Amino acid sequence: MARPYLEAHGLYKRFGALEAVKNVHLTLHPGEILAFLGKNGAGKSTTVKMLSGLLLPDRGEVHLLGKNPFREPLALKHLGAVLEGNRNTYWRLTPLENLVYFGVARGLRLAAARKRAWELLEEYALLGKAHTEVRHLSRGMQQKLALLQALIHDPEVLLLDEPTLGLDVETALLMRDKIRTLAQAGKAILLTTHQMEVAEALADRVAIIHQGEVVVEETKEGLLARFAGEHYVLELEEKPPLEVIKQLRALGVEGEGPFFFRGNAQALWQVLEAVKPLPLKKVAKGETDLLEIFLKVVGHA
Ligand SMILES: Nc1ncnc2c1ncn2[C@@H]1O[C@H](COP(=O)(O)OP(=O)(O)OP(=O)(O)O)[C@@H](O)[C@H]1O
Ligand SMILES: [Mg+2]
Repeated sequence: MARPYLEAHGLYKRFGALEAVKNVHLTLHPGEILAFLGKNGAGKSTTVKMLSGLLLPDRGEVHLLGKNPFREPLALKHLGAVLEGNRNTYWRLTPLENLVYFGVARGLRLAAARKRAWELLEEYALLGKAHTEVRHLSRGMQQKLALLQALIHDPEVLLLDEPTLGLDVETALLMRDKIRTLAQAGKAILLTTHQMEVAEALADRVAIIHQGEVVVEETKEGLLARFAGEHYVLELEEKPPLEVIKQLRALGVEGEGPFFFRGNAQALWQVLEAVKPLPLKKVAKGETDLLEIFLKVVGHA
């Protein structure tokens, strides 16, 4: 696999007595989307701030394309971030001015920054607001602008802290597509979100942080497969006779129709044998989704 664009080793951050982030390791490879999930207060934004060079970790290191951004701030040219509460936008400047300002600040020449700013405003349907002060934009428009500011210098690494927060359905879908396209173009993307369906749609890998510690870090496919386990759903056309139900219970089948059954494929055949020749309506492997997994991992903890 290609060398990671971003690596974090043993990140640790304390606020007074609170250990907000404890020993977090993360890697981000070119072309991949990592969904960074966790409950409110789990430590996501604190981690993202340390990854983006805004907050100095008490311990641990960040490497951005091999460079430590706290020692070599120029490395930050390779990074774009959408931070919580889009705090890096100037409210009295227009979207165009903000984009040009950030483009130049991150190393673009003025003419190039202007050109790219216009292209982004057009692509993200903000042309009509190019000259309106940001404080007069709607919240969703401000959120979109925050993404454009992260993209203006075409960085290799994107850290997106809840980028679709407060966006209307259509805009959120547009943003989702853009994020996917950026990853296909080779960007390494960390995506923080509370919308599990967004994470499930986009992620290649998933990291779940709980009380400052990464408790799960795995490919999405691997995670879904691991939690799906061997679990089947069985439906019959009609209620089986008591005799058959007894047999099913002995095999560990639960439920009243649909019946649920945990076991491997071989055991499934025993169950099917037991219901023979009753007509089957449905036999399916149980599905799981990221939401269910998330709740299992951190929900009741
Ligand atoms: N500047 C700060 N001073 C004191 N405590 C802080 C500070 N920033 C964050 N914290 C605390 O650190 C913990 C982690 O906060 P963080 O913002 O990283 O959570 P989060 O996972 O991003 O949550 P959310 O989903 O609500 O955005 C919280 O308990 C928070 O109150
Ligand atoms: Mg946060």
